[in-house]
Amino acid sequence: MADGMSELRKLLAESRRVVFFTGAGVSTESGIPDFRGPGGLWSKYRPIDFSEFMSSAEARKEYWRRKIETDKVLLTAQPNRGHRAIAKLIETGKASAVITQNIDGLHQASGIPAGKVIELHGNTTYATCLDCGERYELEPIKQAFVADGTLPECAECMGIIKPATIAFGQAMPPGPMHQAQIETVACDLFISVGSSLVVYPAAGFPALAHERGASLVIVNREPTPLDGMARLTVQGEIGSVLGDAVGVN
Ligand code: APR
Ligand code: ZN
Repeated sequence: MADGMSELRKLLAESRRVVFFTGAGVSTESGIPDFRGPGGLWSKYRPIDFSEFMSSAEARKEYWRRKIETDKVLLTAQPNRGHRAIAKLIETGKASAVITQNIDGLHQASGIPAGKVIELHGNTTYATCLDCGERYELEPIKQAFVADGTLPECAECMGIIKPATIAFGQAMPPGPMHQAQIETVACDLFISVGSSLVVYPAAGFPALAHERGASLVIVNREPTPLDGMARLTVQGEIGSVLGDAVGVN
């Protein structure tokens, strides 16, 4: 690992413009479970995809039940050393953006301006009407659901309300996808952190960076399908790998 660390430090020092790409693994040291690692969410729950959410009130109830459960950890979690290391490189201007698959808001909580956090899979801190886009705060929805299982309905158009995250089978947000594309082709060093790199189109960005000639670095506890195209893979705990490489506690 030592040579991986010195190579990572060298790549960071030589880079003109770094882009970070993060997955659930960057937040596990903040107490938020990932999806496919040991004990991850998909070992507990079967994913509810968008068409099931839309077609079944029972599926929507299960979706809200899970959200209320997982929010108990998510809404109290704090950024960890890995988040702070990324935030420091954004602050010094070495990194231009973080493309994240995460919905926990911890990159923003670590001090990165919202405009530099590109949320490909949405954000779990509010809900929206799927028909008219009206925004809804979560607390009143959760209280009504916990009280008597009432599913939220849009006051404007009677549409279905869903947390503002992207479920499997749901359209990706065009704005963040476009911004991620721009950042990916502009960087010379693309660092994927804490992602199993198995979900597309998100995992297409590390591949695009490599195709466009950027150096791809993958920091993850376990191997990923894109390791073969990486200039460097560092297998270890993200907090210590990034914290040591960048010099933050
Ligand atoms: N240090 C290093 N690696 C870690 C750590 C850690 N502290 N914690 C977890 N990991 C690794 C796991 O071993 C795993 O390979 O992070 C990776 C997380 O992968 P996933 O759980 O698949 O998460 P992610 O890649 O973000 O999933 C992508 O899938 O379910 C959808 O929408 C969801 O955004 C998510 C998408
Ligand atoms: Zn509506």
